[in-house]
Amino acid sequence: MKLSIDKAARLEGVLKVPGDKSISHRALILGAAARGRQTIDGIADSADVRTTMEALRAMGCFVESMPDGRTIVLANSLESEFELDAGNSGTTARLLAGFAAARARRCRIDGDASLRKRPMGRVAEPLARMGARIVLSNGGTLPAVIEGGALRGIRYEMPVPSAQVKSAILIAGVFAEGETEVVERVSTRDHTETMLAAMGADIACEGGTIRVRGDVPLEGIHVTVPGDFSSAAFFLVAAVLVPGSRVHLPFTGVNPRRAALLDVLERMGASFSIDALQSVNNEHAGDVTATHAELNAITIDDAATIASIIDEIPVLAVAATQAEGRTEIRGAGELRHKESDRIEAMAHNLRLLGASIEVFDDGFAIEGPTRLLGAAVSSFGDHRIAMAMAVAGLVAEGRTEIDDAEVVEISYPKFFADLRTLVR
Ligand code: S3P
Repeated sequence: MKLSIDKAARLEGVLKVPGDKSISHRALILGAAARGRQTIDGIADSADVRTTMEALRAMGCFVESMPDGRTIVLANSLESEFELDAGNSGTTARLLAGFAAARARRCRIDGDASLRKRPMGRVAEPLARMGARIVLSNGGTLPAVIEGGALRGIRYEMPVPSAQVKSAILIAGVFAEGETEVVERVSTRDHTETMLAAMGADIACEGGTIRVRGDVPLEGIHVTVPGDFSSAAFFLVAAVLVPGSRVHLPFTGVNPRRAALLDVLERMGASFSIDALQSVNNEHAGDVTATHAELNAITIDDAATIASIIDEIPVLAVAATQAEGRTEIRGAGELRHKESDRIEAMAHNLRLLGASIEVFDDGFAIEGPTRLLGAAVSSFGDHRIAMAMAVAGLVAEGRTEIDDAEVVEISYPKFFADLRTLVR
């Protein structure tokens, strides 16, 4: 599907963004690892999350969406052998690899062409040290065959910052003998730790070290999922960039390890308000309001900030084209291992619109401000590239056409419809 976006006069309105994808995956998977029933309110209705639901059903779990909108997860007995299709979803593949390492006699995990290119060695290595037998393809990718069983706790120092890898180890650690310790030099999103604690795990986080004791059963709880900050980010940046705009996004997740884009944009000259701040299952949520601002360039090269904005960097690149000066993002080589190579994808697309962008192995530099001109661009089969280019289309003169725009299904099926409600 080709989607056309015209330059917007302004954006205005109130929008409730769909539930957080990372928290939705965890609510499902940890629900399947628990005793009793997990109920989930506000789960993300997206292809990736449906992929996790299907995978859990293939493991023998009961996962059902109720007429009142709640999702129920109940795992009375799991199969010992199963095949999982993780589709396009890295979170599904990696977190379920951790679960399978603990609970499956034999499990095969596969994914689509994009997921088959993404690294799995980073998760296989610590799980093998815990005692699982894991055979990957082509030296480190899917399909993977996992023979799990009795695991033992390990101490693991994370070589790359990855919440998916950390989560896989912690999930395996819940079932392992003794204590599992994960040491993060760079903090990543902590939704797994937060939810494990709420579900009764014996878990402690101190400095960069997370410890979980095995053989303490998880109890099913009720999870309320706040709106996905990574989805909200597209509207926030759009409001900042288009003069005269104001958008209000109620009940959006603002976990500090996820919402650092707000700080980055504030350092560039934007300002946001967060009202009605609340804590749900120890996750922070609030009503976020963004208005138009003139931006100045910035350099971001510290690992902690990069990890906290990793999914927002494509749309931050769009903001950089409108900022005064040279914006430089370094230390973000992980972007090359996402649903697409997001450094090349954004550089290619933004150049088509007339932006000046220099590419590095681990990031890029953008000179601004540039008057963008609408052009035909590609989603590269990546939902976040499609949505970032939609934001670019709102500021570019004329019309921008995005190829394969249906890929937004992965995280936000109603993205374009929701965007239309805000554009004036
Ligand atoms: C995620 C972690 C991040 C992020 C991804 C979701 C998660 O990936 O980019 O969109 O839910 O744990 P990495 O663990 O590869 O950094």
